[in-house]
Amino acid sequence: MSYLFPNYARDTIDLVAGSGSYVQDQNGTNYLDFMSGIAVSNLGHNNPIVMEALFEQADKIWHSSNLYSNHLQEQVAEKLTMGKDYLAFFCNSGTEANEAAIKLARKATGRSTILSFEQSFHGRTYGALSATGQPALQEGFYPIVEGFDYLPYNQLGPLKEKLDDSVAAVMLEVIQGEGGIIPADKEWLQAVAKLCKENDSLLIIDEIQTGMGRTGTFYAFEDYQIEPDIITIAKALANGIPVGAMIGKSKLAKAFGPGSHGTTFGGNNLAMKVANAVIREINQQEFLSSVAAKGNYLMEELSKLIEKSDKVIAVRGKGLMIGVELSSPETLQVVIQQLKEQRLLAIKAGKSVLRLLPPLTISQSELEQGLEIISKVILNDM
Ligand SMILES: Cc1ncc(COP(=O)(O)O)c(C=O)c1O
Repeated sequence: MSYLFPNYARDTIDLVAGSGSYVQDQNGTNYLDFMSGIAVSNLGHNNPIVMEALFEQADKIWHSSNLYSNHLQEQVAEKLTMGKDYLAFFCNSGTEANEAAIKLARKATGRSTILSFEQSFHGRTYGALSATGQPALQEGFYPIVEGFDYLPYNQLGPLKEKLDDSVAAVMLEVIQGEGGIIPADKEWLQAVAKLCKENDSLLIIDEIQTGMGRTGTFYAFEDYQIEPDIITIAKALANGIPVGAMIGKSKLAKAFGPGSHGTTFGGNNLAMKVANAVIREINQQEFLSSVAAKGNYLMEELSKLIEKSDKVIAVRGKGLMIGVELSSPETLQVVIQQLKEQRLLAIKAGKSVLRLLPPLTISQSELEQGLEIISKVILNDM
């Protein structure tokens, strides 16, 4: 019997240890990790750089309070703003980062409407859930927050129609993650940014899954030559220590004055010390280029499966955020189960997309090993 709410469809394996690109279950079985705790363990498991930062801070002070100055938050904020005119707010998760973004956008603009996109995912708390363009996830939780509307992704016409002076912000993922690894078209995203600017609406880019080097640049939007007003980030920010951040243009600061928004744990010392080390490691050109190169290799090899098997419909993504669209949800379920039997962990996205999110530190030989397992399973060659 379980003492837990059944809100997750949990697999029976219980991961009790991890090292690099491998995790181990309660029976001592090792698996090649192609999901990184859903894009969290970007630097792999038990990374010595992350551990050193954690242990060093654990010996000093874990938590102070946001009532006091915090030099570690200042250091992380400086890194996240990348020399541009932004400020940061720290929280504990992705959904909280999006809550902060929605609140800031409404208060700063004095407008109420938030436009987001069909099959988007922004989190489970009421504001973020209301921005999530998946009716199935809202089912049973009505009424959701007022003032949200959902538009078709990668289409400009419907956005032009809705963009009036009630629109506080347009919120989107550069690659829709949970929705099925769907990348934004470059021209579309650039046009969205331009339209937002012309309409004095803020552009909120949710980098919670795509950020932290996952796509081969520190933030995925960097490849699109746009400048968001607000960026949200979480998941891999401290490689598994819970933390989130909202980064917004400094001109928005007036709307987030003392007492306007807050959290007890957000940006606590442990999380900040680790985040500092994680960003330092990831935000180096050599590291980011290696992610892009590994991603290109994986995409190219996986794309060969389209011709070899009618189970594979398409391969999409960028860097080490890759989706293999399979022929049906049933096929996907079988493939994920067989991958697990062959000791590789991967997860689904959308209805029938195999989502691959290996640690960014994965070696070439581990990538090849993963590819071999995936090919064998898809081609029924076991
Ligand atoms: C794009 C995106 N936004 C927001 C979230 C919510 O983050 P969290 O689960 O940390 O609340 C997720 C989580 O999967 C996500 O992928």
